[in-house]
Amino acid sequence: MTKVAPSILSADFAHLAADVARVEKAGADMLHIDVMDGHYVPNLTIGPQVVASLRPHTKLFFDVHLMVEEPQNLFRPFIDAGAGLITVHAEAVVHLHRAVHQIKELGVQCGVALNPATPLNVLEYIVNDLDLILIMSVNPGFAAQGYLPLAGRKISELKTMLNERGSKAQIQVDGGINSNTGYEVVKAGADILVAGSYIFGADDLEGAIALLKSM
Ligand code: DX5
Ligand code: ZN
Repeated sequence: MTKVAPSILSADFAHLAADVARVEKAGADMLHIDVMDGHYVPNLTIGPQVVASLRPHTKLFFDVHLMVEEPQNLFRPFIDAGAGLITVHAEAVVHLHRAVHQIKELGVQCGVALNPATPLNVLEYIVNDLDLILIMSVNPGFAAQGYLPLAGRKISELKTMLNERGSKAQIQVDGGINSNTGYEVVKAGADILVAGSYIFGADDLEGAIALLKSM
């Protein structure tokens, strides 16, 4: 079954705990937390303090997507705040191998995200060290952008690479996911769908999550 990770970027930030409780009750598998610093991406979102405040309000696993410059400075603060998975952008670090191993040594799962224009070959020498690969199907920075169809072929090629390498890493897709694009990326090999505006904008939260999970 496909896993669904609602992105809190589309939640009501004045009622975050309540919105997180709503998606938890509606069947979310994990919570996707988008961290933006106004430099790596033009938008600014939340820091470890907000994540730590949310932690006692939900049992959901925290999937932290770092869209920041110098992300290595934030690994420990977000892990202390309750992250179970830290995903770092390949484009945001000079020493990707070091960053991956720093995350693993801190005792949590490690993901690497690739922007739409970033080729899969940056994973060549680290793929077997990863728990997750995040394929961005929009350029990061904002919710509710249009899905970029190039993600489909990229996911299929990644799936082949993981099979050839005997990797059990999960493929996560983020950006413009709804019932149509969700179907397309799951067919291509995605395991986890991140969705912000589609889920939080739905009248029937439970129905929207169930639909994505059934793909
Ligand atoms: C974009 C973020 C996404 C975003 C997805 O930079 O990484 O997680 O919240 O939002 P939707 O699903 O609305 O495209
Ligand atoms: Zn994200």
